[in-house]
Amino acid sequence: MSASEKHTTDPALELRGVTISYGAIRAARSVDLTVGAGEIVTLIGPNGAGKSSTLMGTVGLAPRGGAVLMYGEDVSNASTEQLVRKGLTLSPEGRRIFGNLSVAENLRLGGATARKTAGETEERLLDAFPKLRARYGQQAGTLSGGEQQMLAIARALMSNPSIVLLDEPSLGLAPKIVDTIFETIEQLRTWKISVLLVEQDIERALEVSDRGYVMSHGEIQMTGTSNELLTNANLKEMFFGENA
Ligand SMILES: Nc1ncnc2c1ncn2[C@@H]1O[C@H](COP(=O)(O)OP(=O)(O)O)[C@@H](O)[C@H]1O
Ligand SMILES: [Mg+2]
Repeated sequence: MSASEKHTTDPALELRGVTISYGAIRAARSVDLTVGAGEIVTLIGPNGAGKSSTLMGTVGLAPRGGAVLMYGEDVSNASTEQLVRKGLTLSPEGRRIFGNLSVAENLRLGGATARKTAGETEERLLDAFPKLRARYGQQAGTLSGGEQQMLAIARALMSNPSIVLLDEPSLGLAPKIVDTIFETIEQLRTWKISVLLVEQDIERALEVSDRGYVMSHGEIQMTGTSNELLTNANLKEMFFGENA
């Protein structure tokens, strides 16, 4: 769906004062973040900063306070399934594919709440991910790490989303495979899908992004264009300096 069909001035996704709490543990506090229609936005920060919790809470999979808006519409009270139907999906950290099911069955699960006909979407995705077509009937658990990550992304795309949250898609993959993953992320831009990306490989992530947010200790510490963040000395110190 193109943003022009919606309210062009509203961001695709907006978090307002989002707080994630697990009992007494406050994993994210007062997070304000926007992803413009068609933008790729990166959320970076050290381990335990609250990035995954923020993504999970956004789609209703972690206890959340504050507001979530899609194209200006307040969807704070929508269930995860309702959000998928509205076009918002998460590809979670650690892939979470079903190893004992085939590639085809995993894709079908992702398309269960598809907004368009799932078959059409699947064909488009198998064209984009020829490796998955070649492994279509194979047990997902027997795929390589890179292929499993491709499957996790393709499964999220099966619901034909307009906004995708990607949690550490390159984690644990060999450098050559990481290249492919980042090419895939750039392809999402050509499909007019808005992306909120969480990554450890911050340079690569910022290179494919328009803007970024830096999170630590559950709070957004810094935001800017990707170029601003790439050249920010404080950020370098935060990740690579003595306090990293
Ligand atoms: N299900 C959970 N229950 C309790 N605490 C959690 C849970 N998930 C994450 N946390 C805690 O919330 C904090 C942020 O974790 P997380 O969101 O996974 O950070 P990141 O993705 O940035 O590494 C950590 O202190 C973590 O231990
Ligand atoms: Mg995480």
